[in-house]
Amino acid sequence: MRKFGNKIIVKLLGAVAISFLVSLGMMILIILFNVYLQKMNYLTELSIRSSYFMILLQYSAVILTFIAVFFIMARKKILYLKLITESVHDIANGRLGLTIRIESRDELTQLAQNINDMSKELEKKFEHERQLERSKSELISNVSHDLRTPLTSIIGYLDLLKKGQYDSKAQFQEYLETIDSKSQRLKYLIDELFEYTHLSSPNVKLTCKEADLSGLLEQIIGEYIPIFEKEQLSVQKSITEDNVPVLMDIEKMVRVYDNLFMNAIKYSMKPSELFISLEIIGDKAILRVSNKVENFEVNNINKLFERFFRGDQARTGQQGSGLGLAISKRIVELHNGKIHAEYREGWMSFIVEHPIDYGLWD
Ligand SMILES: Nc1ncnc2c1ncn2[C@@H]1O[C@H](COP(=O)(O)OP(=O)(O)OP(=O)(O)O)[C@@H](O)[C@H]1O
Ligand SMILES: [Mg+2]
Repeated sequence: MRKFGNKIIVKLLGAVAISFLVSLGMMILIILFNVYLQKMNYLTELSIRSSYFMILLQYSAVILTFIAVFFIMARKKILYLKLITESVHDIANGRLGLTIRIESRDELTQLAQNINDMSKELEKKFEHERQLERSKSELISNVSHDLRTPLTSIIGYLDLLKKGQYDSKAQFQEYLETIDSKSQRLKYLIDELFEYTHLSSPNVKLTCKEADLSGLLEQIIGEYIPIFEKEQLSVQKSITEDNVPVLMDIEKMVRVYDNLFMNAIKYSMKPSELFISLEIIGDKAILRVSNKVENFEVNNINKLFERFFRGDQARTGQQGSGLGLAISKRIVELHNGKIHAEYREGWMSFIVEHPIDYGLWD
């Protein structure tokens, strides 16, 4: 019943009925007035022309009453329709996200609601496109800057060799080695960049397999221990659980662990300790890698996961690309996991949450 009452046709019919009743009332008044005039013998004195004119006047008054009452009653709807038309015009002219106020529950309001939804959706899409465009151009400018540096020195050293501007065979060899190491760096940057853009594409596919996370980590850490020791990092490992079933693209996740351990080697204070632990909390397996750092200064620690972000000390070292953690984040998220960093009293920790799949080994 309520729904029926909200239909615009019902409202219009109601307005017609009320207008009709009011004009009927008006007609009755006019008839009564005519009867009164007749009683007073006033009408007989009028010429035929004048009486036709009076009838015309009275009919017009009735019709005008009908129109006026109908207009007053439908005015709100007409104004609302005008508002909708103007808003659609504004949206079409670029005011995306504009919304029309919602008044009642009839079809016009439904139309306004649909237009509002469309406008918000368009705004969201447009903003997303703009964001993509911005990050693409940012990526291009960062990449060109990072690729240009090694390429410039390769060109410079090759030029020296071409012009024979070296004093000895040893210097010749030294230049060649610089060219070699700069070319390796260029290749590394290009490979990382390729990996990042590949992982960022929306249709990237993982090749997931069942795996035991604790066994996998034990194995990787075992391989790293000689390197940690050589770098004066003494490892404190705590992997308590034996079988931790996870579904993962092992090759990709190993990249994440490699980057975490390599970062610990590159950016840790030496000599010092390195803590690695795997803990089970609920249905999550939590890997924590903590190392000691000196003068760590980043206002927002999440910045570390932005691509091309490199700390001051890392930038002077020229070893990495600043893409490692951005790639890791993407890989972990593709596995429905999470990665974040924490800094507390000189200790930097990277925490990776993996969803455990207990159903795997039932
Ligand atoms: N364990 C850590 N301790 C202290 N700082 C770190 C650590 N891991 C990363 N960082 C900081 O975060 C920055 C980003 O790390 P990320 O792994 O993304 O890049 P990278 O190591 O510089 O280069 P890439 O991994 O591509 O070779 C580093 O440059 C460093 O400043
Ligand atoms: Mg790294």
